[in-house]
Amino acid sequence: MKHMSESSERLVSPEPKPDDRLDLALRPQRLVDAIGQDKVKENLAILIEAATKRKEPLDHVLFYGPPGLGKTTLAHILAKEMGVNIKVTSGPAIERQGDLAAILTNFREGDVFFIDEIHRLGRAVEEFLYPAMEDFVMDVVTGKGPSARSIRLKLPRFTVIGATTRLALVTAPLRARFGATFRLDFYDLKATHTIVERAAEKLDVGAEQDGIEAIAQRARGTPRVALRLLRRVRDYAQVRAEGIITKPVAEEALDLLDVDILGLDDMDRRVLRTVIEKYNGGPVGLNTIAASISEESDTIMDVVEPYLMQLGFLERTSQGRTATQRAYEHLDLPYSPKDQGRLF
Ligand SMILES: Nc1ncnc2c1ncn2[C@@H]1O[C@H](COP(=O)(O)OP(=O)(O)OP(=O)(O)O)[C@@H](O)[C@H]1O
Ligand SMILES: [Mg+2]
Repeated sequence: MKHMSESSERLVSPEPKPDDRLDLALRPQRLVDAIGQDKVKENLAILIEAATKRKEPLDHVLFYGPPGLGKTTLAHILAKEMGVNIKVTSGPAIERQGDLAAILTNFREGDVFFIDEIHRLGRAVEEFLYPAMEDFVMDVVTGKGPSARSIRLKLPRFTVIGATTRLALVTAPLRARFGATFRLDFYDLKATHTIVERAAEKLDVGAEQDGIEAIAQRARGTPRVALRLLRRVRDYAQVRAEGIITKPVAEEALDLLDVDILGLDDMDRRVLRTVIEKYNGGPVGLNTIAASISEESDTIMDVVEPYLMQLGFLERTSQGRTATQRAYEHLDLPYSPKDQGRLF
């Protein structure tokens, strides 16, 4: 099970690590400071302005997409733009209806309730949330046995902002209660470059444009990864160079950390090699891949596959995962899937 622990060490993992606490200072505070995701930002600006004009709370908003792309950041930005408080929690953290009731009754009009991993809400808790979201009421039962009565309490109008990496696991009734749903996508190279550039300025690290570009190229279109790579390259620059991030410095640092030119690391390559070498390019099921490399299926699905698919290296078919010709080329393997030469 050696690889199990390795995943938490992954430098390019989009999932949060203790070190990323430092990113808090780098987190954009207002919508205009957020980089990229232009369409999402434009839609959010309209929601904010419309709600403000009507003097109403913001509609419930659901964000989905791979980890590290800014769901939490946008939730904080929305609260700030609306000038309201934000209460942060996550699906698995709300264990009982009573926990939820305690939170809801403490809101002030317009406050934001951010629920991360909203697909992991327990069933009873989720059902308790429905009337709260829809009509801003909650039903509480008083007394026991035959004398038990259900009474309906009015709640302040609040805004739920949900976040999930797995939209498919959010139940239809819950999804239907959100006024707006936005998918966050990987950032393009230009936006990633700007994120690294701004962070370097804020951290007061000397960096040349080429050096910034080299980091951005390997950051998997993921702000969290971009910021982490910047910190590691900064360390390298201070210890092995004159503290300035140039292109060669960034490349040496990241090569040494085993992050390749496209931002792939050992785990990405093991997944691709398994599909290609053990299963002849696929199709092969996710669980089979996971077992072959002693990793968890969820980890592969949430944090490895989205980027490999974005690169066009891996495809999901109904029969399983297939490696594309580009994946073979990137790994320098001869392209010879089993269908080759077959007559159609
Ligand atoms: N649009 C952006 N512009 C600049 N920096 C950003 C942007 N989005 C995110 N970041 C930076 O990236 C870091 C990670 O973002 P965030 O924590 O919001 O991701 P997330 O989508 O909530 O991830 P998870 O799914 O793991 O909860 C933030 O600390 C922030 O500094
Ligand atoms: Mg988050």
